[in-house]
Amino acid sequence: MPKLIFISPDGSKREVTAESGTSVMENAIDNGVEGIVAECGGSMSCGTCHIYLDEETFERLGEPGSAENDLLDFVNSPRRPTSRLSCQLKVDDRFEGAIFFVPESQY
Ligand code: FES
Repeated sequence: MPKLIFISPDGSKREVTAESGTSVMENAIDNGVEGIVAECGGSMSCGTCHIYLDEETFERLGEPGSAENDLLDFVNSPRRPTSRLSCQLKVDDRFEGAIFFVPESQY
């Protein structure tokens, strides 16, 4: 099962072990990672699960799809080149050691 790493704005690090097929958002919520609210429950309508990937992780996991890309233009925290919606990231073996930064303005 892949290990995911969440980093808070204060630099604190949280490692969680994720089951394949679950979303990064679900793993953040289930493990009490602050700053991931996920108001819509993963139906891709709220943008409150916005997260920044480190560059290596982003290259490994790829670009957002077009609907996700559109919603990322309306998230509260500033969009960056490595922004993704964590509810749209479904865990598989490629996620081992993936690093996610929680946007400061979501705290
Ligand atoms: S949980 Fe609402 S868009 Fe991801």
